[in-house]
Amino acid sequence: MIPDTPPTPYLVALVETVEANINAMQRRLEESQIDLRPHIKVHRIPELGRMQTSPGAVGIACQTLEEVEMMVTAGFGDILLTNSIVDRKKLSRLAALMSQAKVAVTADSDQAVDELSGAVGASGGKASVYVECDIGGVRTGYAESGPAAALAMKIVRSQFLEFGGLAAYLGGNPRCPDIDAAEATLAEVVARLARAGVDVPAVSVGGTVLAMRAWPDCSPSTVTEARPGNYSFFDATKVEYGLVGYEDCALRVISTVISRPNPTRVILDVGWRILSNNELPGRPTYGHILEYPDARVVRLYTEHAIVELPGSSSLPRIGELVTIVPNSCDGVLASVDTLYGVRGARIEHVWGLWERAVLK
Ligand SMILES: Cc1ncc(COP(=O)(O)O)c(C=O)c1O
Repeated sequence: MIPDTPPTPYLVALVETVEANINAMQRRLEESQIDLRPHIKVHRIPELGRMQTSPGAVGIACQTLEEVEMMVTAGFGDILLTNSIVDRKKLSRLAALMSQAKVAVTADSDQAVDELSGAVGASGGKASVYVECDIGGVRTGYAESGPAAALAMKIVRSQFLEFGGLAAYLGGNPRCPDIDAAEATLAEVVARLARAGVDVPAVSVGGTVLAMRAWPDCSPSTVTEARPGNYSFFDATKVEYGLVGYEDCALRVISTVISRPNPTRVILDVGWRILSNNELPGRPTYGHILEYPDARVVRLYTEHAIVELPGSSSLPRIGELVTIVPNSCDGVLASVDTLYGVRGARIEHVWGLWERAVLK
């Protein structure tokens, strides 16, 4: 029990585990001579971003313009915004940021590139643009090499733009992403551009699962940079994929048992508002309770979790605190205002979770 903690439910990050995870990823990629650019979208906390970059990362990646604004203000000098910006007001904010720090952006359409070119041209600057490719994530980006190379050529020819390289993301929940297919897609674009005399300065791929499966085992030779985000915390999903153990999961929700209606069920004072409704592939539970590993969080209400335990196990008593490793970091970190960074039995940091995923 940590002194001075708030009433439950609350969220803690084990700082020593975060540090170990950050260092392990840095070492993993360094050994394969791959640059690390941590994606900060999962936490949006500058101090954590600094912890991630200080062992040797080349910069950070952000997912929203607001994240970039905050990170530039916090002093980060090399940022890749991994999202297409097409709104004109946002584009002029982006152009302003590009004059303050090294900020690059991804694009996957002529329209995005034209609008960006207009915005940076008007501000008298130059923008670095990465062409986004779809390497199996089936989200944004070009799945075909022809249009991807054509957009890169357009960027190369543009007065106000420079070609930063290729960017791609493979996330979701692949237990075993097809790294060979991802590599083939990217290599084809690089080869097309090489034939046209265009050098590709960087090939940046996102995703913790991808990073951990690709290096050192598959080592896709076209890729120069990895952008994992979840790896500083990990979560029950990554345990389920066999990437890490629960001891590597730094994020924990602390909750109180408020009811024991029958011999196999207890109710916790935390619901979907905090745990989020992310299901765990392969195991029907909304989070893993460390003290009761056989327990399953079978149902969530807004502020209640219904937990079932096998009849043979001991039941937590009313008033007892339990520690839940969430299924997904993103949902939890988007739902609470404060993250307590804990070292041993001491609260070392009280981090405000800025820019929650709420509509304004
Ligand atoms: C474009 C992009 N890059 C990198 C990441 C980081 O991936 P992960 O959260 O799997 O570490 C994400 C996460 O959604 C992403 O969308």
